[in-house]
Amino acid sequence: MVKIDLNNLPQHIAIIMDGNGRWAKQHTIGRIRGHKKGAQAVKTTVRACREIGVKYLTLFAFSIENWKRPEEEVQALMSLLEEYLTKETKQLKKQGIKLTTIGELDRLNPAVKEQLLQAKADTSKNVEMILNLALSYGGRDEIIHAVKKIVRDNKKNKVDINEINNDMFKRYLYTCGMPDPDLLIRTSGEYRISNFLLWQIAYTELYFTNVLWPDFTKDHLFKAIASYQKRERRFGLTSEQLKRQNHSKSLLNIKNKRH
Ligand code: FPP
Repeated sequence: MVKIDLNNLPQHIAIIMDGNGRWAKQHTIGRIRGHKKGAQAVKTTVRACREIGVKYLTLFAFSIENWKRPEEEVQALMSLLEEYLTKETKQLKKQGIKLTTIGELDRLNPAVKEQLLQAKADTSKNVEMILNLALSYGGRDEIIHAVKKIVRDNKKNKVDINEINNDMFKRYLYTCGMPDPDLLIRTSGEYRISNFLLWQIAYTELYFTNVLWPDFTKDHLFKAIASYQKRERRFGLTSEQLKRQNHSKSLLNIKNKRH
């Protein structure tokens, strides 16, 4: 198993789970069975993140564009989601995981939506980890949704144009209240963002792997985290500025501990 530093974990990991179809093709089985195996990798990854202490995990489970897939495949993905919720909500509760969602839930079939709302309510008091499912989600749509809401609030005199800034805009996104992802993983060897969390990943570390999502294991997750831990996140500063900043922070920590 790859070694990772548990004191320097990404607080928020986002994953583009790609390659279910190609995995199925490799195994000469239908695409839907690839998604089924992908759902197992979801379970493993959620558990591994909870075990090591990752606080937020956002999974791209169904994009706005995915509605254009063949009807049979869309139905199968919805059934897998239902099955996951039926079987896993109890586990999520037990492990202290709160389920949240981002995306246009109103486009989901009413029964699936109802089940999701129930699972969200059942786990709403949990604080150990947030499992955030992106469903019927598109990054550009999310930004447009936020802009429309701001314009509406401006008309109601709730928001002044001069108040619009990064922090304020962030609160109008689906991810309101969540920190931006520290690490974004994409499986299957594709080097694209595919309309995922466009606003939120401005300073996120990106990690691409050739592993197909159904083959993704705890070890692969650890490899991604280890790669993240080797990087210097400068947020636009110079390396020297960053070192000085970290030095001041650690001095402050020592001082606070003494008092
Ligand atoms: C991409 O593979 C994956 C998806 C479109 C959906 C992700 C869904 C799951 C992992 C299973 C169910 C999820 C939950 C939360 C229970 P692809 O079909 O685009 O693969 P390909 O690019 O190889 O064709």
